[in-house]
Amino acid sequence: MGIAVSTERKRVAVLISGRGSNMTTLIDAAKAPGFPAEIVLVVSNRLDAAGLATARAEGIKTAVVNHRDFADRETFDAEIDQVLKANAIELVCLAGFMRLLTPGFVEGWRNRMINIHPSLLPAFKGLHTHRRALEAGVKLAGCTVHFVRADMDDGPIIIQAAVPVLDTDTEDTLSARILTAEHQIYPRALELVSAGKVEVRDERVVRLDPEAAEDTSVLMCDGGG
Ligand code: GRF
Repeated sequence: MGIAVSTERKRVAVLISGRGSNMTTLIDAAKAPGFPAEIVLVVSNRLDAAGLATARAEGIKTAVVNHRDFADRETFDAEIDQVLKANAIELVCLAGFMRLLTPGFVEGWRNRMINIHPSLLPAFKGLHTHRRALEAGVKLAGCTVHFVRADMDDGPIIIQAAVPVLDTDTEDTLSARILTAEHQIYPRALELVSAGKVEVRDERVVRLDPEAAEDTSVLMCDGGG
């Protein structure tokens, strides 16, 4: 029944710190009929995050929890947790959220919080990933959506996309190519998690849906763009 299906949509919060282009792709994807999640809340630690205006223009509730207002990471995370619970959030998407989360908070959202990182993890965790990929001379770069664990940019991998690194690349051109891939895989990963099509077993993600053999968790992109 239509009504029964719609009530099963997972209530999702997106946590941002900046422009929010990944957030926007999640919002757009969730507009599709039958998408198993709805973006009901956007939380930023920065008042000036450009993504907040985008979310408001989409009619999505926003909240700012400024980390500078808190004495330590534990109390900041406790406030974020309270905001998420007050909004009956079931799944959390980190999308350019530039704060390290405490182990207690991460554990509380275990397998219910996902992140996107612009590298083929476990390579190039942390900041300046594109510059470091260029310096290392890798020929393939990419992005990863993964379940969040306490260590930075660590956790079971849901989807990865690979893009070529060209000799002519700069940080700007490489990050633009990777960002295009990010926008493809993040909605797809949210769909898989929200629909219950994946499960974490022994800290690896396995697909449960019958079409898993066709709909792989790997995306190979070409160099154009
Ligand atoms: C993206 O590259 C994402 O992978 C990284 O931070 C960036 C956020 O960009 N974690 P946006 O705010 O989604 O445009």
